[in-house]
Amino acid sequence: MSELRTRDVVDADLPAVLAIRNRSFGPLGTGGDLWWQRVSAETLGGRMIAVVDESDRVLGAGRIRPYEQAWGGRHLRMGGVAGVYVEPSARGRGVATTLTRALVTRMGELGDVVSCLFPTTATLYRRSGYEIGGVQTRMTYAAHHLRGLGATGARRAGMTGLRPAVPSDARQMHDLARASSARHGVSGPMLRSVAALTGMLERDELTAYVVDGGFVVYDLSEQAVTVEDLVATTPEAAATLWGVVGSGSSAAPTVHTFLDPRDPVTLVLGGLPKVKVQQTPWMARVVDLEGAFAGRGFGGHLSVEADLVVDDAEAPANAGRWRLSVRDGRGTATRADNAPARGIAGTPPADGITPNGESGGALRVGARGLAALWCGWSVSRLRQAGLASGGSLDGDAALDDVFACQPFITEYF
Ligand SMILES: CC(C)(COP(=O)(O)OP(=O)(O)OC[C@H]1O[C@@H](n2cnc3c(N)ncnc32)[C@H](O)[C@@H]1OP(=O)(O)O)[C@@H](O)C(=O)NCCC(=O)NCCS
Repeated sequence: MSELRTRDVVDADLPAVLAIRNRSFGPLGTGGDLWWQRVSAETLGGRMIAVVDESDRVLGAGRIRPYEQAWGGRHLRMGGVAGVYVEPSARGRGVATTLTRALVTRMGELGDVVSCLFPTTATLYRRSGYEIGGVQTRMTYAAHHLRGLGATGARRAGMTGLRPAVPSDARQMHDLARASSARHGVSGPMLRSVAALTGMLERDELTAYVVDGGFVVYDLSEQAVTVEDLVATTPEAAATLWGVVGSGSSAAPTVHTFLDPRDPVTLVLGGLPKVKVQQTPWMARVVDLEGAFAGRGFGGHLSVEADLVVDDAEAPANAGRWRLSVRDGRGTATRADNAPARGIAGTPPADGITPNGESGGALRVGARGLAALWCGWSVSRLRQAGLASGGSLDGDAALDDVFACQPFITEYF
């Protein structure tokens, strides 16, 4: 194949990029033009990259959406990789691999410390250091059970200030969501920006209600309500919002939610949820370990130190030996020495523990192992998958404590 090069997508490339998109996923549906204009505007100028051949013909493209994502309740800059597609006649020759590597490098330059994506094929992204981080979970409830919660809430609380949300509520909704992530120490959910919320409310894209101390955002189609966001600081606010969601049970008997699988609605529902769970896997990557670790939140009572050696050819900022230290809810990743970086983590022997010499007693992972560790996979699981070697059982336990989390993503992108 002719020589491949990557460069920023510019305005004039957009028709070619859209044509490849349509050859990959079919034509844009209703409202698709507006969506395309919006995502292009969001990523042109550094966040949309093309792979071109020697005559500058666009063969593939991908976008890095600028997101904020909670890890341990604190929000980090996350590059959401989306819109990766390759011209069908140029497939199977490394175009996408070239592209994803360029996207990782660009995220490092932009200051996105972690990255996530919803893959159609895991292999492609594993090559660039991504690993499965978790699943997006869709729970399904009978609307009449949720309606019942509303009756209870209204009786208990009287007035809750319930009203439809308007664009000027965007700031308050954003602040409530940020505070809620911090309060519950969650990992995974993305925070809608004030601008994104304002735009969504202005365009009437989704239905949204606010109460004192909470809000809900949902969609209604095909006799089902789909809840995308529900934040409540009090039981009364939660009950009132769930009541609104369920109030249309006569016309929309089913309610889907894309929330924390441990949303407390499960604890207060006056009936069993319909056990109909749908899960969509997502992948994650650490782009800048030092920055990400400093930004992540940790339990206030956790005090632990652990060593880790990372081999990461595509994000050299991650490579080397690290001392990870957590105290008073904050983490610090400090370079411990200049341990030589390798391309990939070695495969451990049958007992899962390799001699310590090679990594000086520390666990050794590649980019995929680091991604999985970051997302709360235990070291024992990483060893089983051949994604970690070296270290000791004591070191494993320390790393498990450092990265313990059950991450979930609520928004598909
Ligand atoms: C998936 C896609 C981006 C791959 O582009 P490409 O330039 O052919 O990819 P590469 O040549 O760099 O291949 C990289 C690896 O991806 C994997 N891969 C590529 N196409 C695949 C497919 N259709 N199914 C499963 N895995 C696939 C393979 O493991 C491949 O490596 P291998 O050929 O050595 O086994 C391209 O087929 C495409 O545009 N598909 C439609 C849109 C899409 O699914 N985009 C991804 C959104 S997350």
